[in-house]
Amino acid sequence: MNNIIVIGSTGQIGSELTMILRKIYSGGTVVAGYIPGAEPRGALLESGPAEVADVRDARQLAAIVDKYHIDTIYNLAALLSAVAERKPLMAWDIQMNGLLNILEIAREKGCAVFTPSSIGSFGPETPHMNTPQDTIQRPTSMYGVTKVATELLSNYYHSKYGLDTRSVRFPGLISYTTLPGGGTTDYAVDIYYAAVRGEEFVCPIAAGTYMDMMYMPDALRAAIEIMEADPARLKHRNAFNIASMSFDPEILACAVRKEIPGFRMRYEVDPVRQAIADSWPDKMDDSCARQEWGWAPQYDLAAMTSDMILNLKKKLFSL
Ligand code: SER
Repeated sequence: MNNIIVIGSTGQIGSELTMILRKIYSGGTVVAGYIPGAEPRGALLESGPAEVADVRDARQLAAIVDKYHIDTIYNLAALLSAVAERKPLMAWDIQMNGLLNILEIAREKGCAVFTPSSIGSFGPETPHMNTPQDTIQRPTSMYGVTKVATELLSNYYHSKYGLDTRSVRFPGLISYTTLPGGGTTDYAVDIYYAAVRGEEFVCPIAAGTYMDMMYMPDALRAAIEIMEADPARLKHRNAFNIASMSFDPEILACAVRKEIPGFRMRYEVDPVRQAIADSWPDKMDDSCARQEWGWAPQYDLAAMTSDMILNLKKKLFSL
């Protein structure tokens, strides 16, 4: 990787990934791609070039790839699961037509492509405990449908055209920098904001609902390490299960209470998000990622909780 574009650079993952890539690949160019209405600001804007990059506009993307001699595309444009249920056609347009544009440009210009997959690529018939790398994937949400199709299309471009496509299946991602927005796993971020503000948290996911989750520093490392991995070792490509922790709202609330003893939570279950959560794995088996490219998470629930609360206090109260 040398010259990189991050499409969706102002989103939950992109806002942090772009900054880290700029640090690591300081000899090259890391372009912050964004859509109008989600302009980069502050350090993201000041630390490197930014371009309007709408995945639905192939001509615009091709021009950026040419202008900056891009060799790697991080395609993070997506509607998350709950929003995608409200806007299924738009989710399809961004996630599928957008992906096709990117893969075609990458094929023409020889770029590597990372398009994240997700725990959302699994469905109710998938084994929920220790979900294997290769297993049944019949998701019931539009988000999941696009994620499975993303995996298949990305693998197709690799086997048919030799395109260097690689990816991971992200768990719910937890971070204090940029809010996710519209996902089923967002509760695990929102809970920290409520706790640090001293507010009661109203949880939209029922007690006993286990899902894989991951702290953002581990997720960012995964996105970079998979693209840097020795291709000769990769038996899989799109996309690897990666895991670090699995919990339900009760376990998360207990972890928060260890840091903020008076924290209160009650439940108002959102049926749309609950149905999605019920169809997803409780806990994925990530042994293929560990074997094929040395994946290893660094944060567990306790370490993440301390770090989240410390940083949210700084962010919300400028301590
Ligand atoms: N975090 C995503 C969501 O909840 C899943 O990948 O939609």
